[in-house]
Parts: sequence; structure tokens; C-alpha cells
Amino acid sequence: MKSPEVYESQFPAQMARNNGWGRRSSFTIASDAFIFFSGAVAALLLVWTFSTFSNPQPPPPPDFGPPIPSVSDDVGCTASFTGLNLLHDPPDPNFYDDLTFGYTLDKPIKNWDEKRTEWLKQHPSFGPGSEDRVVVISGSQSGPCSNPIGDHLLLRFFKNKVDYCRIHGYDIFYNNVLLHPQMHTFWAKIPAVRAAMLAHPESEWIWWVDSDAAFTDMDFKLPLQRYKNHNFVVHGWPKLIYEKKSWTSLNAGVFLIRNSQWALDFMDVWSGMGPQTPDYKKWGEILRETCKDKAFPESDDQTGLVYLLLKEKEKWGNKIYVEGEYYFEGYWLEIVETLENITAKYNNTERGVRSLRRRHAEKVSEGYSALWEPYLKDAGYGKFSWRRPFITHFTGCQPCSGQHNQMYSGQSCWDAMQKVLNYADNQVLRNYGFVHRDLLDSASVSPLPFDYPA
Ligand SMILES: *[C@@H]1O[C@H](CO)[C@@H](O)[C@H](O)[C@H]1NC(C)=O
Ligand SMILES: *[C@@H]1O[C@H](CO)[C@@H](O)[C@H](O)[C@H]1NC(C)=O
Repeated sequence: MKSPEVYESQFPAQMARNNGWGRRSSFTIASDAFIFFSGAVAALLLVWTFSTFSNPQPPPPPDFGPPIPSVSDDVGCTASFTGLNLLHDPPDPNFYDDLTFGYTLDKPIKNWDEKRTEWLKQHPSFGPGSEDRVVVISGSQSGPCSNPIGDHLLLRFFKNKVDYCRIHGYDIFYNNVLLHPQMHTFWAKIPAVRAAMLAHPESEWIWWVDSDAAFTDMDFKLPLQRYKNHNFVVHGWPKLIYEKKSWTSLNAGVFLIRNSQWALDFMDVWSGMGPQTPDYKKWGEILRETCKDKAFPESDDQTGLVYLLLKEKEKWGNKIYVEGEYYFEGYWLEIVETLENITAKYNNTERGVRSLRRRHAEKVSEGYSALWEPYLKDAGYGKFSWRRPFITHFTGCQPCSGQHNQMYSGQSCWDAMQKVLNYADNQVLRNYGFVHRDLLDSASVSPLPFDYPA
């Protein structure tokens, strides 16, 4: 079977035509590769030159300037989890040794909560902090993208996720094969999330983030406390779900799901509408009947989720948190034009507060994020706020296939992706001493002066 565009977020694909946005000749790509290669050689030579001629004199003592308030425990940040024993797996049997236990959807799992607890007891070093542990899961198709710059874009989106995870100490699993051969496109995430739950009994939460979504606030952390009575978190608008019954009343491209028996049962029901079942066609009709604005006839996971909220609210809905306060994920078109003003606001704030602009090791960034909070008190969240948007989602841009929605031009998708990815990258590069001055110029950075942006 020809593998369709795996994992890209759903959008009326029929409305899209590939008009070749971002298409570049192989010559441009080859010459870029050459420039990169010669650049790398030059850099190597430079390193070699420096190491050969470096001055053995001890440097003068550094000038630290006047003392500044420091990040400390009183800003309320908790130490990250260390001391995990990665070697210890006692011989006592656990669920992994059970012959009937399997990773595929056709092997139902019972008593998963007990099995997880048992595993944690066998591996006590994973106990502390386990209730806040998060694993990020993302993925894309197994073959090359048909958009000539698609793989480049996916790499940049992946780099962005790696950056966020490194800063916050989260594990990340990127999957690029269909774990169920019939569960293609947007259905592919369910078997991946399910397998990740079983591979990560140490993790309380599994966080699916579509390949075309980028973290645009490297400081922000999920307010997990808020979700303590829920098992599933998705971005949406209850009014649009329950009154308009719209298939776009929520977005299934980013969700947080608790590693639990509830989640396994829920995914069994949810995936029951998928292309691997004999009822797939029937579900397409039911979902279209339920959400009249649904743009295409095939059953899809997002409308399926709306359906379960509408029709099985008592059974599932009370454990599903529809997050609408902040950009748990947000529509790129709404976000991209706000970035410039947001940057100016953050810049202004930093100019007034020396401790915020103090240079520091990347490892202690969470402490500085906490230090920012009082200054962001009035920023608000989500639309019309000047807080950085948490996740920017390129719904409809289809970076891998290039089959973007006809509502916008390929150029606008491409420009917005560059801007957003460089905006995020600037937050990362800050701790490495550099900045992209121009968000549309991915290839250039400038070094940051001491005490920037005083
Ligand atoms: C950015 O700020 C300027 C000046 O306050 C304002 O005129 C403009 O509308 C803002 N732009 C956006 C997209 O909010
Ligand atoms: C931030 O402020 C510095 C110092 O005033 C200025 O040089 C820089 O251009 C500003 N950056 C942005 C993105 O506004």
C-alpha cells in the first residue's frame, strides 16, 4: 500500500493543491550543501588554528560587576529528578514477562494501573517525581517528504521539540513508522501513544505533539496540577463543542494523556472509528452526521473525539479537560503576527530588571522562567495576551507533503514557519550567546553583548 502522508494534522486535503510552495531547484539545495560543507571545513581550520596558537597565560580575574539578586529556591522551582538507576531491573517477574502481554491494539490490557505501580515498586529510583513525569511523543512518515524542503522543515520542528525537552528534562520519542499498518495519517498517533505508555511505565503523562507544531515559549511548563482530576487534555472551546458541534471545536494534534487503564480503554474506543476496523466507512457517515461542518467524508480522530465528548460525556467527558486558557496549541495564522510586539515587551521588561537578563547555564533555565512570572502577571494568556504563545501549530500548512490548504499561499506558510522556528530558537540560542536578528534569516546569527539587552 502506498503510504499516505503519515502523521500530518488533518485539514481538508481535497481543498489543497500542490502549487509547489517552497520548491527549490536541486541546484540551490546542492549549492547550499556545498556552502555548509566548506563552512564546516573553515570552522574546523579555525578551531585548529586557535588550539595551536592559544595563549598559555592565565586570564585576569573576571569582572562580575555589582552583585545582583540570584535565582534560588525561594522562586518555587523544584529540583529536577536525578539519581535514576538506569541499570537496575530486578529478576522478579513483571508485566513485561507475561506471555499474553502485547503492544498491539488487538491485545487488550487489564489492570494497567496496578501493573505500573508494581513496576515502580520494583524500580524505586523512579518513584520520586513520577507523578509529574512527562514523555513527549511525535512522529512523521517513514519515507522522504514529497515537498522538496519537507524533510528540512521536519528536522527543524524536531530540533525545536528536542530543545524544549532538554531544557525541561523530558524524554522524547520520535516515531517514523506506522505501528499499525492500516492506521495511517492522523490515526497513526494512537498506536504510537499506546506503545509509548507501555514502554514508559515510569511516566505519568504521555504528551503527543504533532510534527508540525513548535514550542514557542521555552519557559512555559504544563500546569499539571490543574489536570490532577483529569486523564486527557486537549485544546478547544466547550461552546463550539457542545453548541456548534463543530469538528474544529478542538484540535487533536496536541494532547496530554495520563498513563493509565482509563487511557488504554479510551484509546480502544477512540481507535474503534479508525481505518483498521470494518466500521470505518460507517463511522465516517456518523461523524459527518454529528458534525455537519466536517470537511471530508472519512472518519478522523479529531471529529471522533468531538463525537465522544458529545455522545459519551458521562463515560469519558468528565475526565477530559478542554483547555482554552492558554495556547496548549494555537493556530499559526493568529499567532505569527503577534510575535514582534511580544518580543518588544519581553525586551522592555528585561531592560528594567537586571536579574532577568543575567547570563546563566542552560541547565538552570527553569529557575529564570520562574523569576519571570511576576513580570508576566498582567500579560494574560492566549489570544490578545503578550505572553509568548506556548505551542504554535501549522495546521493546514502540511510541511512534509507541501499540500497546504488553499486558504493561504505556500510562501506565507514557509515565511511563518521560519519566523516561528527562529523566534523559538532565539530563546534557546540566548543561553549559547547568540541571536537571530532577523527572524526570516535562518542562516545568520549575531553574538550577544554582555548584559544584553540593557
Ligand atoms: C503592535 O504594537 C503596535 C504599537 O503598539 C500596534 O499599533 C500594533 O497594532 C501591534 N500589532 C499587533 C499585530 O498586535
Ligand atoms: C531589544 O533591545 C535591545 C537594546 O535596546 C535592542 O538592541 C534590540 O534591537 C531589541 N530587540 C528587539 C527584538 O526588539
